Amino acid sequence: MRKLFFFILTFTAIVTAVGQEAEYVQQYSWPWHWREGTIVTEPAPATEGQRTAIGMAAPAIDTVRVGFVGLGMRGSDAVRRFTHIEGVRIAALCDYEADRVEASSRFLREAGLPPAACYSGEEGYKALCANPDIDLVYVATDWHHHFLVAKCAIEHGKHAAVEVPSAMTLTECWALVNLVEQRRRHCVILENCCYDEFELNTLHMAQQGLFGEIVRVQGAYIHTLDEYWMQYWKQGPEDRLGWRLRWNRDYAGDVYPTHGLGPVAQLLDIHRGDRMATLTAMATASFRGRELAEQYGGEPCPDFKNGDHTTTLIRTVKGKVIEIQHNVMTPQPYSRLYQLTGTRGFANKYPTEGYYLYDGTYSHRFLTDSARAALETRYRSPLLAEYAEKAHRVGGHGGMDYTMDARLIYCLRNGLPTDMDVYDLAEWCSLAELGALSLEHGSAPVEFPDFTRGHWQDLKGFRHWQKK
Ligand SMILES: NC(=O)c1ccc[n+]([C@@H]2O[C@H](COP(=O)([O-])OP(=O)(O)OC[C@H]3O[C@@H](n4cnc5c(N)ncnc54)[C@H](O)[C@@H]3O)[C@@H](O)[C@H]2O)c1
Repeated sequence: MRKLFFFILTFTAIVTAVGQEAEYVQQYSWPWHWREGTIVTEPAPATEGQRTAIGMAAPAIDTVRVGFVGLGMRGSDAVRRFTHIEGVRIAALCDYEADRVEASSRFLREAGLPPAACYSGEEGYKALCANPDIDLVYVATDWHHHFLVAKCAIEHGKHAAVEVPSAMTLTECWALVNLVEQRRRHCVILENCCYDEFELNTLHMAQQGLFGEIVRVQGAYIHTLDEYWMQYWKQGPEDRLGWRLRWNRDYAGDVYPTHGLGPVAQLLDIHRGDRMATLTAMATASFRGRELAEQYGGEPCPDFKNGDHTTTLIRTVKGKVIEIQHNVMTPQPYSRLYQLTGTRGFANKYPTEGYYLYDGTYSHRFLTDSARAALETRYRSPLLAEYAEKAHRVGGHGGMDYTMDARLIYCLRNGLPTDMDVYDLAEWCSLAELGALSLEHGSAPVEFPDFTRGHWQDLKGFRHWQKK
């Protein structure tokens, strides 16, 4: 009876998400219950004939026709980067604001490229997704629209690539998993931090066994956004906070977890041999966030939901621990932490970059600069050998944005599985709502849903797919 009850609740939630535009007003988007002191959510029901998308490839596309939705700070730079990638045609441009579409259109004209179809307004993306001249919809809108655009794109037979965080709720995560499994189109999370140089080299070293068994990792997004808050898009003069500060005001949990979690999840082969099992989260109260909302909103803000600093601890099925932090509020140096502790070695990126390898004698220090340089030469990531030189020229967060985009296009052009799939998207993005459930219930343990529905060991280890 209890099972039937939760099945009905779950089914109702997913049908609402897939059938209609998502609602963001309820406290939690997904039904949950207690099981022996742990908060548990049920998996979404699958439809008949739906099958796993683990390792999914799609037919190769010779020239990938891309439609961009969201041309603000991030999306307009994505358009620029794509003009440097071979095998791509920028086929369509869309933003709520017509003048942003015109600016990117002008950019293409001045670069001597063919014109793209243009769309604007709140629902312009629907016409873009219906355009048969598009293979890939690249989404860089505010967080309210990521899911709506991705869903619309996949329903129209397009692949979707979605900026981070690509889904904001468990309902959105499950709906995208179901859509991909049903429609066999990619839904890629655009986690650029997986392509930074230290991370790529360290991943390669880890895959060669240099650190032994990796037992603990940490990652973060610690970035004071003071200079950006008022630059984020505002929907009209009534909107005084802009979408990002408003989202932080309205939601608890790590609402931007993927820069920290993505690269370390790849180190641990998450859903390629291991699986995140349980999390617990703890956050400070809101001090600075509330101050900002009052400063920009011009009225008291007694209930700013997002704590200034949120910490989430995750344990995997194989007994590894992941620590993820989020702080976009307090003044401090930028950090994504990125730390790996293994049975034979250690790596750390922020605030001090270094490696430590155990060779039978203990030391208190990282490897010397020359030893590190030799290590990085010997274990240079094959991806960097291929992309780094051009990535430096094109730029975008030091080149990692270009490498991410170029890899996505490479996989689509060669009919390969993408580096990051819809399960990565769901696992990494679900931290927000799962974390809020923990935070709002005394940091209780919360069970991670298995978005793969039992297929998390089908692939043996994370890999960047290459054509044979
Ligand atoms: N991966 C990274 O390093 C990185 C860096 C910055 C931003 N981001 C992500 O990129 C996304 C965009 O961020 P941003 O800084 O460009 O924000 P922004 O506010 O500058 O841009 C958002 C854009 O979305 C547009 N938009 C809103 N509703 C729309 C609709 N219905 N249809 C089409 N367009 C619509 C707005 O008009 C605006 O141009 C966010 O998800 C953010 O988290 C990622």
